[in-house]
Amino acid sequence: MLRDADVLSLLLSRQPGYSLEQPFYTDPGLYEADLRHIWYKDWLMTAVSAELPKTGSYVTRQIGDYAIIVVRGADGVVRSFHNSCRHRGSRICSAAKGTNPKLVCPYHQWTYELDGRLLYARDMGPDFKAADFGLKPVHCEEVAGLIMICLAEDAPDFAPMRAQSEKYVGPHGLKDCKVAFQSTIVEQGNWKLVLENNRECYHCSGSHPALCRTFPEDPNIFGAAAEKGGAPVLKAHIAKCEAAGLPSNLSIAADEQWRFIRIPFLGDATSYTMDGKSAVNRRVGDVAIDDAGSCLLYHYPNSWNHFLSDQGLIFHVTPISPTQTEVTTTWLVHKDAVEGVDYDLERLTEVWIATNNEDRAIVEENQRGINSPAYVPGPYSAHHESGVIQFVDWYARIMTGRLTGRGKRALMAAE
Ligand code: FES
Ligand SMILES: [Fe+2]
Repeated sequence: MLRDADVLSLLLSRQPGYSLEQPFYTDPGLYEADLRHIWYKDWLMTAVSAELPKTGSYVTRQIGDYAIIVVRGADGVVRSFHNSCRHRGSRICSAAKGTNPKLVCPYHQWTYELDGRLLYARDMGPDFKAADFGLKPVHCEEVAGLIMICLAEDAPDFAPMRAQSEKYVGPHGLKDCKVAFQSTIVEQGNWKLVLENNRECYHCSGSHPALCRTFPEDPNIFGAAAEKGGAPVLKAHIAKCEAAGLPSNLSIAADEQWRFIRIPFLGDATSYTMDGKSAVNRRVGDVAIDDAGSCLLYHYPNSWNHFLSDQGLIFHVTPISPTQTEVTTTWLVHKDAVEGVDYDLERLTEVWIATNNEDRAIVEENQRGINSPAYVPGPYSAHHESGVIQFVDWYARIMTGRLTGRGKRALMAAE
């Protein structure tokens, strides 16, 4: 089991442009380092507004050691709290989701308001001050129908992500959407393999027959190569969508943690369906054209998304162990769209259910091969896997910076 100093030396000796050394995908100590330095520090996509439609709606999450509640208050504000009672620490909500007028601990019924204040604790004596025992808050932001949390004490500045989400995702009207379907699958693979696989389409033609009917696998369209100008068809699509009032030009964070761009589908396709036609006969938000392609958003470490003219597809990833990762996919459609009338659920979901299953098999085979003592890092294709290079570089840069910073602080404390 590696310690932080071992992780740092592996990072400093890695060969850029190559996959990572085996411990990055297998070692429990390295996994703990990923949790402490990335997952407990960065903003994480955690839910969509449509999962919390009314006062008291909540979802629970487990991020590493942290049990979390995300709940909508009577004032409409979504907040997040540590799911640990301030009496003797019991988890308060054990269900994955639900609706409660108050948050009541099942152990001794301490009762919390939806904004985290402790309202009631039986027989605690005259000196007990309920105000001192509110639920511990977690940073939480709701923007353009997306909900993100951050476990850090001091969260990174959310303002740039908020501004860009409002600009790019806002027109897709996710706040006026409902959850048509949600799937959660567990992949027997390290979380970084799940992200790496998502960041390239080198594998698509061999693995994704349904997706390849509509998704352009050309890295000059969807990949990091688009940063250098992109294919003419991409430029034309962006110009058309910008003219239709949809922000579409590439926008990428200074540290490359997130990226927005609107890409075209293949040919005349307007959605991820088997025939390429829209899956829902009701457009979302202010999208004025069917042929708006897909507005892509990734946010490291845990999310990729596709915002279409007829639906929103939100993916969020949760690590479970060094070699297990949960992937949740949420399909959003206009709240007034009626299943069986305006859309067929199977038609809406079949391409990405198939694609997710194909990706799960790919990631699991990747993990099994990496588990072998014979595994050595191999070279990425600069043409097809520029997005993977970009993700792995981001990961290595962030980890190195945080490990070095921590090292400095530890050194200063020791002096
Ligand atoms: S642990 Fe929650 S009320 Fe006792
Ligand atoms: Fe894939």
